[in-house]
Amino acid sequence: MIVDGKHFRSLWWNETRSVLEIIDQTWLPYDFRTIQVVTLQDFADAIREMKVRGAPLIGATAAYGVARAMESDPSDANLDRTWNFLEATRPTAINLKWALNRCRDALLPLPESDRAASALELAHLIADEDVQINKKIGQHGLKIISKIAQRKNNGDPVRILTHCNAGWLATVDWGTATSPIYQAHDMGLNLHVWVDETRPRNQGAITAWELGKHGVPHTYIVDNAGGHLMQHGMVDLVITGTDRTTRCGDVCNKIGTYLKALAAKDNDIPFYVALPSSTVDWTVRNGLSEIPIEERSDAEISNIQGISDAGKLGAVAVTPEGTPVGNPAFDVTPSRLVTGLITERGLCDASETGLLSLFPEFSDTVG
Ligand code: MRU
Repeated sequence: MIVDGKHFRSLWWNETRSVLEIIDQTWLPYDFRTIQVVTLQDFADAIREMKVRGAPLIGATAAYGVARAMESDPSDANLDRTWNFLEATRPTAINLKWALNRCRDALLPLPESDRAASALELAHLIADEDVQINKKIGQHGLKIISKIAQRKNNGDPVRILTHCNAGWLATVDWGTATSPIYQAHDMGLNLHVWVDETRPRNQGAITAWELGKHGVPHTYIVDNAGGHLMQHGMVDLVITGTDRTTRCGDVCNKIGTYLKALAAKDNDIPFYVALPSSTVDWTVRNGLSEIPIEERSDAEISNIQGISDAGKLGAVAVTPEGTPVGNPAFDVTPSRLVTGLITERGLCDASETGLLSLFPEFSDTVG
């Protein structure tokens, strides 16, 4: 995507220095800073501290982490250690495990002398594939937006609500939920996006930043506003991303997604989820009982981060000192509340039959 006239992916390999560069998302939307990720510890920190975030981006970053680890010690033992070390950084987004498994499966049969170069090639491939996959998700999702636009023959905007950031910053490029939005906007459709704030980390502000850079009209709203807007006929469509979707179509995504799906159902508003197939956990059927939900730090709730008038980034307390808090970072939307899934191979029902109709190669995976 274009930032200040230059095309950026959310990560890229610096050939000259042989390091990965990323956009440090902990500074967004206030400041656009890029940093180098050098050691394996840096990779783990970048994922855990959410300098990179969003399911597909976490996976691509981890693949580069494996490549880094293979440079100094390409042994089986180090491959295993690296897998465990990186996998422990965040528990919910399945793309992390997916990328680590893909790396391990590809590298294990190779002689140790070939592993470092092959791991780097594979990381590049995973990143490039992500861009193409998200572009295709956009092409399929565009059909949904176009249909709604056609029904509005008065030229009013198609009003889309999204939660969290499932934008290009959560992937390598394009985004998942935002890819149809960017493509619809680029072909001249009139859109307006309601951007949920997404407390506690306010990823909605990152979505607003992205949409603003791309010129997509949008309004930032508090998380509790969505139901009200839906009741008043101000939302035509909801599109979110997901961190893990079960083979039966239950959708785990940022905390608060479930409430949006409930409100959408009550108001007969289509609720779509955009995802690459790497976000489907084919080994899991029941999202509520089988997906580990990340519990993040108390400080994310008891404090809120922002920038002062003097331009200083910092946090201020919003609860009485010592208030007990809870911070589950994700929730599960049961498949019955999901109108459909938008994947790189097309649209399908949020069900095992729907997913397997597009991805029959996973029929035999035991779930
Ligand atoms: O905790 P985060 O910011 O990594 O969570 C991100 C989300 O929940 C996204 O909506 C999800 O990863 C889908 S991203 C394409």
